[in-house]
Amino acid sequence: MTSMEPQILFRNAILYDGSAGPPFAGDLAIGDGRILAMSAGEPLAEVHAEQEIDLSGKALAPGFIDAHTHDDRAVLDHPDMAPKISQGVTTVVTGNCGISIAPVSFEDAPPPPMNLLGGQSAYQFESMASYADALRRKRPCVNVVALVGHSALRLAVMDDVSCPATGDEIQRMRGLAARSMDEGASGFSTGLFYKTNEAADEREVAAVGEAISERQGIYTTHMRNEEDQVLDSIEESYRTARAARLPLLISHHKCANVGNWGRTRETLGLIERLRSRHPINFDVYPYAAGSTILREDLVTDKFRIVVTWSLPHPEMRGRDLSDVASDWGLSLLEAARKLNPAGAIYFQMHEDDVRRVMASEHSIIGSDGLPLDAHPHPRLWGTFPRVIGRYARDLGLFSMETAIHKMTGKTARIFGLRDRGFLRTGFAADLVVFDPATIIDRATYEHPERVSEGIEMVFVNGELACLDGSSTSAGSGRLLRGWREPAHA
Ligand code: ZN
Ligand code: CU
Repeated sequence: MTSMEPQILFRNAILYDGSAGPPFAGDLAIGDGRILAMSAGEPLAEVHAEQEIDLSGKALAPGFIDAHTHDDRAVLDHPDMAPKISQGVTTVVTGNCGISIAPVSFEDAPPPPMNLLGGQSAYQFESMASYADALRRKRPCVNVVALVGHSALRLAVMDDVSCPATGDEIQRMRGLAARSMDEGASGFSTGLFYKTNEAADEREVAAVGEAISERQGIYTTHMRNEEDQVLDSIEESYRTARAARLPLLISHHKCANVGNWGRTRETLGLIERLRSRHPINFDVYPYAAGSTILREDLVTDKFRIVVTWSLPHPEMRGRDLSDVASDWGLSLLEAARKLNPAGAIYFQMHEDDVRRVMASEHSIIGSDGLPLDAHPHPRLWGTFPRVIGRYARDLGLFSMETAIHKMTGKTARIFGLRDRGFLRTGFAADLVVFDPATIIDRATYEHPERVSEGIEMVFVNGELACLDGSSTSAGSGRLLRGWREPAHA
């Protein structure tokens, strides 16, 4: 037993410890931002604390880690982080899909997809150190794990990102990547699907990636293709990660477009085979629709498309592209052109594929929410309670402890967060109290900004950050650094 007097003692909790093991009844004491003691099956009889909270019937779990976000700016502009903290999220991984707020700035409007994080004024950080500094000043209520995006690096050093980088440009990107890691980043992301990144070949990605693996980082990728060539893209991701000796996390794994529905059987089989040679995992959100910028090459009449924002026509947010097109007497493509720059939700997946990916033992949960969107995809507000309440409890896709493992312990291991993700003595006191009987998402495609139900208390580094769905603006989050051993070549 520790000599320190605990600040809070939770009694009679159902403890989900972040492993995939079954829950157990017990007490847990925290103080000074850490878990000081916990028990299984019996009370912590000798422990006394300033405050005791009886949790009879309620679950206590490690705070959820959102493995895939675009919250780079949101944590500074909205440090109360309502969409995330209200779901029980205590850590967000930023800088995904090649898009990071640092180290880059722009003289004009940032090109898509960089505009997913904001306009020119959003990009104020020419170094990761200055971003880390801003986080210390703004004190968001969630922790941040920051990735460096390849598009950000390319735009920082290249005059023309439509070309492959030259040897000199690769050297400069490596330097910037290395420096970013030394200043607090935890890994590297690409978004080879996007214009600002697609000209990068495997050699360029691997060369920049080496600067990351030398500093114990991770590699996440929004692959070049999630449609007809999805298998090729998985092979490419594997080869580049292996060449750079980086553990690989495939972003928001999916098989998009009607012709590819059902093909997660193939992709998961391929990943399983490649895994025997190299560490590979993937993140997933619990919805059959994706969301990004409105891209003309994604416009189709095969599935529904909903406008999430539009610079010239903000009044069209939340409306179906097909309705906008018929109102205007235009084709879908012409309407998309008129709406741009804009964002959209694409109903491009099959529910069976979503479930298959979620049920795989190699998946972790990431919302991929877009906090700036005027009419966001509901994943921004609903992802975590939806996985637990709908997919685990109501549909029985997996156990509740498996659901929680995919958003806590497993995620912490993948990112190399050594003292998070599990209920263990000495670990950080990032905690969620929820009601296993009522937890559920309420955000929908029509009403995407509804707070989830059943999340009762959220603690970040020992401070109460959310009570009954409302942020307390505790401001106890900090920049975390993950450490992953380089994967063997
Ligand atoms: Zn992406
Ligand atoms: Cu993303």
